[in-house]
Amino acid sequence: MRSAFSTTPWYGGDYNPEQWPEEIWREDVRLMTRAGVNLATVGVFSWAMLELQENQYDFEWLDRVLDGLHERGVKVDLATATASPPPWFSLAYPESLPVTADGIQLSPGSRQTYCPSSPAYRSAAGRLVRMLAERYGNHPALALWHINNEYGCHIARCYCDTSAAAFRRWLQHKYGDIDGLNQAWGTAFWSQRYGSFAEILPPRTSPAHPNPTQLLDFDRFSSDELLACFLAEKAILREVTPEVPVTTNFMGLFRGADYWQWAQHLDVISDDLYPDPADPDAPITAAMARDLMRSLGQGRPWILMEQATGAVITRPENAIKAPGQMRALSYQALARGADGILFFQWRQSAAGAEKFHSAMLPHSGTDTRVWREVEQLGHELNQLGKVMGQQVPAQAAIVLDWDSWWAIEQRGQPVQSAYLALIAPWHAALTRAGVVVDFVHGDEDLTGYPLVVVPNLLVATDAQLEALDAAARSGSTVLVTAQSAILDQSLHARLNGYLGKLQQTLGIWIEEFAPLAGAWQRPGNVPVRPETTIRPTVEVSGDVLPDGRATGLEWTEAIRIHDAEVKARFAHGPLEGMPALTRRATGNGAAWYLATRFEPDALAHLVDTLLAEAGITGEPVIGATGDTGWVETVRRGELTFVINHSTAPVTLTAQGKDMLSGRTAADMVLEPQGVAIIEQETAAPAAQEAPLLNAGRTGEPT
Ligand code: GAL
Repeated sequence: MRSAFSTTPWYGGDYNPEQWPEEIWREDVRLMTRAGVNLATVGVFSWAMLELQENQYDFEWLDRVLDGLHERGVKVDLATATASPPPWFSLAYPESLPVTADGIQLSPGSRQTYCPSSPAYRSAAGRLVRMLAERYGNHPALALWHINNEYGCHIARCYCDTSAAAFRRWLQHKYGDIDGLNQAWGTAFWSQRYGSFAEILPPRTSPAHPNPTQLLDFDRFSSDELLACFLAEKAILREVTPEVPVTTNFMGLFRGADYWQWAQHLDVISDDLYPDPADPDAPITAAMARDLMRSLGQGRPWILMEQATGAVITRPENAIKAPGQMRALSYQALARGADGILFFQWRQSAAGAEKFHSAMLPHSGTDTRVWREVEQLGHELNQLGKVMGQQVPAQAAIVLDWDSWWAIEQRGQPVQSAYLALIAPWHAALTRAGVVVDFVHGDEDLTGYPLVVVPNLLVATDAQLEALDAAARSGSTVLVTAQSAILDQSLHARLNGYLGKLQQTLGIWIEEFAPLAGAWQRPGNVPVRPETTIRPTVEVSGDVLPDGRATGLEWTEAIRIHDAEVKARFAHGPLEGMPALTRRATGNGAAWYLATRFEPDALAHLVDTLLAEAGITGEPVIGATGDTGWVETVRRGELTFVINHSTAPVTLTAQGKDMLSGRTAADMVLEPQGVAIIEQETAAPAAQEAPLLNAGRTGEPT
């Protein structure tokens, strides 16, 4: 297998020449060279231009595109073009159209109008992939196969009859016989017992709460069906072009597909991410997706396959990126393990649904700020071969689990919650503390992480509980939060105090859940009593908390101790005096339990306590929670990236040289959106001993 990378980071974007007359193509490649573009993603939405009618192909235009790129040394990430079947296909195979849970069949007219289980779709896609592989497998420009595009982005679940039949086959394979399914799904409840697999349907809209395990199995099945589409294409590509690596572009923390299941099948992980420039916390949130991508690839370099130079078209108001912000966010991806920075798209479309989405080459051409920033970044990246392949060491891990994600968001929970809103604060607090976080599934060997955080792992396997126990015993500090290990993989309650094996690890058991009732506003949730939009909270007290107090939100649990130290207690309400935070020393490590959800300041303080216990000192940062914003510091190999996402200048104090400006790092002022990549010139002192920054305004070393 060839490497998925070159000697300098990939730089480029989606290239859709079929939207333009051929004379423009010459200008495209000329300008690509000018901007330092070395990779173009071609053909993502070209099916209708490549297969004009069934089995009537026209590849000649694509030949000319690839040849033209090759002449100028631009490599190609060639799409298999299967992301959007052409209108003739939908007309000929109407049964391939996706159907919603309400039974509405969706029409062609936008994109991705196919049912992932459709045999007609899969065979037409397979034919096209084989033609492309045979025609372009030996093309000198071909660097990478880009299978489909953003699987599940619009149609992550299809409820049509074909999907129903595929779901039944999937269930039969999983459970073997119908008794196994009845047991797992708990169908003795509400008269749901099935006599045979033939009686089973997808969880279509139904009068009341659907069966939870049916729903979860349908989520798992739907992720697997999309993956099966990917694997079918990959098998053809492997057969015809065994040397060419394959990818498909992920979508950050995407609910629709269990990326832990997918990641092992990609030769290189790639990701599309569109942080909102209007959101001051967007860099923190974006860091979470970057860390996930690195983690999915087990630390291997990944590719930022799509981002925007400026505005997108998916929000009600689509802010542009501030001057320098596109560059700063690009370097964030590089700092966190990317070896390629690409955009959607190369040339801004003049027509179609995305004509107002920004591009590398804007509507107004090259005499524009955006183009100048694109050129600058390309030239810089072309000099950064040294970054390639460097590892990003992480000291903390957060368990992320799709089963728990899907199950927590089902109806019928003690509190309705959005899973990412429960994960993100932990990642944010660690990241603001300058600690790089890996995401883990939780059943792998975790013993190398000084700190493991387990937020809301509602559905836990025995293997996960074993791995967490082993980590704590071997010396890690493990923090488990409320709403963890309550259910097994079939969503049956873990009886007699919940938590399974963690009862021993943590030295506690759970008597009951005590959600904080009240009406509060969350997206899509209309308050029951509109006059009360205050989130219900509870005071928690204990010496370990800032000023001895903290606020808990939404969820509390009555926990009982059999072998743990109580660090904080609920200060009032039905659980007054009961433990809210516990710690148990176990083996060489410790296992903490938080029986509520902490508001951000208390959470950050708890994270500091855990970091101190785990012996972790983050990269030095400034302005972590201050009003000017975040300065990001990440070590990648021997290089230290400093990215000023804040609104104030900062002064570097580190020894070494900034690779981007060539200047000595010490005393260098980094303006807002500024970036430095510091290379040590001599044997480097450890980061902890050598502060990198001073706060510009205060001059205080951090
Ligand atoms: C992605 C997609 C691209 C383009 C982009 C901008 O979801 O892969 O084709 O649509 O968003 O909206």
